[in-house]
Amino acid sequence: MTEPFDLKAHIRGIPDFPKPGILFYDISTLLRHGPAWRAAVAQLADAIRPYKPDILAGIESRGFLVAAPLALELGLGFVMIRKPGKLPGLTIGLNYALEYGTDRVEMQADAVPKGARVVVLDDLLATGGTMAASINLLRQAGAVVPCAAALIELSFLEGRKRLDVPVETLVRYE
Ligand code: PRP
Ligand code: MG
Repeated sequence: MTEPFDLKAHIRGIPDFPKPGILFYDISTLLRHGPAWRAAVAQLADAIRPYKPDILAGIESRGFLVAAPLALELGLGFVMIRKPGKLPGLTIGLNYALEYGTDRVEMQADAVPKGARVVVLDDLLATGGTMAASINLLRQAGAVVPCAAALIELSFLEGRKRLDVPVETLVRYE
């Protein structure tokens, strides 16, 4: 097990970003602190190892920052879930609803072997819309998703209620 490390002390809340009234949890300060970032990756690795992933998936863009070092830590590969129009070759995609309008996630159709256990990663779980769409997209691609994980969870938005898989997060804000 990895030693506990006060990750919250390395994440700052920035008021009124990107809009008035929103408190934005900024991971830049965590990323730029070597020991804290290393501890965050190690703690997340400990949290997802029991789900025995075959491969990881990271959600563009800040989810890539989490998935890439975790893949190295766990000795696994990772695949990219991207915003529309970014991936070459045959892709599959899924639209999902936002408060106003819709968004879309895409991945390469052949990115994961059928039946592979894919743990999906993001930096932050807010409403859960992005994560729910990503899980469903991975399933369309033939994956089994044993777990979703993020560094930060905005618990008051109850995003995990929208997800039908276990959710692992390191830092929670009520
Ligand atoms: C943020 C965050 C998550 C998502 C969480 O990404 O990084 O991916 O929103 O929100 P939800 O749970 O309500 O769906 P954003 O789209 O701001 O872009 P970025 O990762 O490219 O910075
Ligand atoms: Mg994001």
